[in-house]
Amino acid sequence: MNILVTGGAGYIGTHTMVKLLENNHTVVCVDDLSNSKYIAVERVEKITGKKVKFYQNDIRDREALRKVFSENKIDAVINFAGFKAVGESCAKPIEYYDNNIYGMLVLLEVMREFGVKNIVFSSSATVYGNPHKVPITEDFPLSTSNPYGSTKLFIEYILKDLYASDKSFNIAILRYFNPIGAHPSGLIGEDPNGIPNNLCPYITKVCVGKLPHVNVFGNDYPTHDGTGVRDYIHVEDLAEGHVLAVNKLADNPGLIIVNLGTGTGYSVLDMIKAFSKALGKEVPYKIGAHRPGDIPTCYADPTYAENLLGFKAKKSLEDMCKDALNWQLKNPDGYVE
Ligand code: NAD
Ligand code: WQD
Repeated sequence: MNILVTGGAGYIGTHTMVKLLENNHTVVCVDDLSNSKYIAVERVEKITGKKVKFYQNDIRDREALRKVFSENKIDAVINFAGFKAVGESCAKPIEYYDNNIYGMLVLLEVMREFGVKNIVFSSSATVYGNPHKVPITEDFPLSTSNPYGSTKLFIEYILKDLYASDKSFNIAILRYFNPIGAHPSGLIGEDPNGIPNNLCPYITKVCVGKLPHVNVFGNDYPTHDGTGVRDYIHVEDLAEGHVLAVNKLADNPGLIIVNLGTGTGYSVLDMIKAFSKALGKEVPYKIGAHRPGDIPTCYADPTYAENLLGFKAKKSLEDMCKDALNWQLKNPDGYVE
């Protein structure tokens, strides 16, 4: 298939483009490079030995998007384009609603105009809010506690309403848990701007000496060691999930909503220990206060993904730490153009 990957130059997009190309799909990438660099796309080409047709455009630019659809026969779209920082979304809600929701609306309108009816959307476990129990199944109640999460939930509603109005759409809403790790080559990986907000890129910066220690956000949660528990999934497994989802859309499944996680929860201290093992020395940390808005525990029930898509995360925690560290060691300053 010829797949349009919007936001493809970013962290999950690059890994997904590699898997799509390795599975003999062709890829057209649209990215405005607002949170990425073009060199990441070149690295995808280097890993796969295949070309990516690239357009530097904002998905809110309707005319630019129409040009992409008129120049390429697109079979399906995977939309990664959006802003994703929870803290920043609280400071800039209008920018988040505009980019994430308006961007999606423009994309859907142009898809409809060109008769393209298959789309995969990057949702997030954040739509489960603070779950009443774990593991989380797809039918759990939904809620949000920040503008970023609201954009994901509202887009899910938009997609459900669209499907209700036009059953010729095939829509996969994928709810990711916590993607980490990198391609084993160390050529592509996560490249946050400034000081990372998320745990794993923060730990790898400590590992390479760019930050002095990890701040552990609380050790009095009701978990096995008091620190927050999450479902970390290797980004390569997550990328594989997208290939399975996009292939599934070709069978006309209608609207599907699927968790992409491993089903296993690890605490912050488990993660620090695993990275210490990968590094070969202790990763320093200090226990601090809770981060406002954090929840104690979040992990997926991955059964539906396995039954529906044949998806099962294969990579271990050791793989995730080794590959994340390898990426950081080879690219201590991220992508440098
Ligand atoms: P990322 O920031 O690395 O990638 C997003 C890409 O989209 C970037 O390359 C950015 O330049 C591009 N982009 C942003 N707005 C755009 C626009 N209007 N037009 C064109 N391109 C635009 O983020 P990521 O971690 O790869 O996440 C991809 C998607 O998955 C996002 O929608 C994010 O909300 C979602 N998600 C991420 C996580 C996570 O932990 N990384 C978890 C759940 C869901
Ligand atoms: C993981 C654990 C923290 C940093 C966020 C978004 C979510 C999704 C994934 C996009 C928690 C603890 C963290 C640090 C710490 N993104 N921590 N010290 O909060 O599960 O999810 O990213 O959709 O929407 O909210 O991930 O990596 O920030 O935190 O102790 O410096 O690590 O308290 O328990 P989170 P995270």
